[in-house]
Amino acid sequence: MSDLTDRLQQLQTDAQAELAAAGDAAAVEAVRSSLLGRSGRLTLLLHGLAELDPAERPEAGKLANAVRQELEAALSQRLEAVRDAGGAERLASEALDMSAPGHPVRVGHLHPTLTVERELREIFHAFGFEVFEGPEIETDEMNFEALNIPPDHPARDLWDTLYVAEPGVDPPEPAHDGTILRTHTSPVQIRAMRALAPPIRVITPGRCFRYEAVDASRNFEFFQVEGLVVDRDTSMADLKGMLEEFARALYGEETRTRFRPGYYPFTEPSVAFDVSCLVCGGIGCAACRRSGWMTILGAGMVHPSVLRAGGHDPDEFQGYAFGMGLDRITLLRHAIPDLRLLMSADLRVLEQFTAGR
Ligand code: DAH
Repeated sequence: MSDLTDRLQQLQTDAQAELAAAGDAAAVEAVRSSLLGRSGRLTLLLHGLAELDPAERPEAGKLANAVRQELEAALSQRLEAVRDAGGAERLASEALDMSAPGHPVRVGHLHPTLTVERELREIFHAFGFEVFEGPEIETDEMNFEALNIPPDHPARDLWDTLYVAEPGVDPPEPAHDGTILRTHTSPVQIRAMRALAPPIRVITPGRCFRYEAVDASRNFEFFQVEGLVVDRDTSMADLKGMLEEFARALYGEETRTRFRPGYYPFTEPSVAFDVSCLVCGGIGCAACRRSGWMTILGAGMVHPSVLRAGGHDPDEFQGYAFGMGLDRITLLRHAIPDLRLLMSADLRVLEQFTAGR
């Protein structure tokens, strides 16, 4: 065997070992060029064929070809193998578990006060009331005068309001057209009476404003629901029956109720309406100041001059009205000790009340 044959065989062994060690496509490529490149080891050996004795040439040529073919096959095989391995590795590292649970989506829910408002709408809807809404920015006339509260009336102190300033006047002065933020939803009574013909049965949920020092039970911004009925032969008995049914619908059949004399300029007679304490059930506790009762609304028979301001003849029609604070009802329902918590937009508080999803 010629020297060349030995070297071919040696090269084949070396190349196989190098290929086996080549771990990726780039390493296989490096082996290929070190063998078959322009000055690769196999290329040089093949050149050497020309210098052989003519008698040895055919035999050596055959071997050289065989080695070349084998190495080329081994190179492509190895290349494929490392590519497959790379792919499998990537697949393993990027695996997606399609059965894994997804990330939870944060779903919002209604504010607890709005949940109570919706509940009141449903209760009164069942009693035959429709919803009638009025503007948050009102006139002095609607908010006070039409409700039997003239400018010098001492009851105005109970509803101290936020006045809208006259444009361009410094220092600020209340607008001359009497524009104010409404202090209660009662002006919507006037709007409803002017817009609708009796029999009228409306509730008027909405936002109100007052000039208040904010504390645990008072805010400058709050929500009320007002109710108004105008019809022929409407009496105090109708008012009492309706409110008693309402209290049981809202707080349960066990709820006891009572009426106390009250005062509002727009109703005569006026009452305060109490329910047995929602915390202690009537035994007496800190929440009801040991009385066993909680006041949830004011009510009364619509004052004749209010009926007149609404465009109805008090000799022909009577009505009753009631008004309640939504925020207070919400606080009581959830035993929330401070109104400011409800108004804070603090999710740690609000997320505890998800009933209105
Ligand atoms: N508007 C009153 C307030 O804000 C509540 C009220 C009392 C409304 C008696 C009424 C009513 O309709 O009849 O304090």
